[in-house]
Amino acid sequence: MTNGFVVRSLDEIRFWSRIMKEHSLFLKLGFRCEDTQLINEANYFFSLFERIENQAHDFSTEADPEQISNFNMKVHRAASLIWAFKRKVLGLILQCQLPGGNNFPLLVDHVSREAAYFRNRLEELNQGRLEPLPDAIIDENVFFLRIMADHAKFIGHLLDPSERKLVEQAREFSHDFDQLLFQAKDLESMRPQSQTVPLLDQFLDQNRVSVKSLRDFKKTARELIEACRIKSIIHPLLADHVFREAERFLQIIDLFERSLTKSSPK
Ligand SMILES: [Fe+2]
Ligand SMILES: [Fe+2]
Repeated sequence: MTNGFVVRSLDEIRFWSRIMKEHSLFLKLGFRCEDTQLINEANYFFSLFERIENQAHDFSTEADPEQISNFNMKVHRAASLIWAFKRKVLGLILQCQLPGGNNFPLLVDHVSREAAYFRNRLEELNQGRLEPLPDAIIDENVFFLRIMADHAKFIGHLLDPSERKLVEQAREFSHDFDQLLFQAKDLESMRPQSQTVPLLDQFLDQNRVSVKSLRDFKKTARELIEACRIKSIIHPLLADHVFREAERFLQIIDLFERSLTKSSPK
């Protein structure tokens, strides 16, 4: 195992453990006051991922790969636990056992998909089996395009209905990303024949344009919410959270673009 393994592991854990920590807070805020058991569980996950986040920042990129591999396993267990918690909450909501709670089922499913993604990344890293580039390009885009489409839907639903212009814009983003997701699914079912450099390159270019404009929209929303200039029930940290996830997707697209042009100079 090389230093690349350490760098990638720490990068994933630093990013996603903060995300998991924030999910615990958002879920907690959506529970009813009488759901004390669920609130306690959410608090438990908040401190668990806060500790993991701090540990990940304490490690240096010069750390022993063996030690990082053990750390990855520990974080993997934590990610599995929070995944199970989120799925349990989803079950309770869908069986109408939390009437009056404020967590949308799609939001709970969404955060569980992010936990499953995090857990998979750790497995792949530890087993040293990263997908071949053409498969990774399609799979990561299918994952993140759906995440972006969900974000647009959440924003549209959590803005005050009287913010008509912004709600309309969020709805347009939702539609745009649903279309991009279908395109990605089409490319997925056409593989391996669809995995040509020009098609993958165009796929990345097109997705990048939309992710950039959604990222800018989220940035504006975040600023407006922080300055209390718009009416919504969006927590300022949630606005920042979805902004960071869009930034992450953009970084991944750029990384793919660079690897693609390196593997096949134009
Ligand atoms: Fe998230
Ligand atoms: Fe998300």
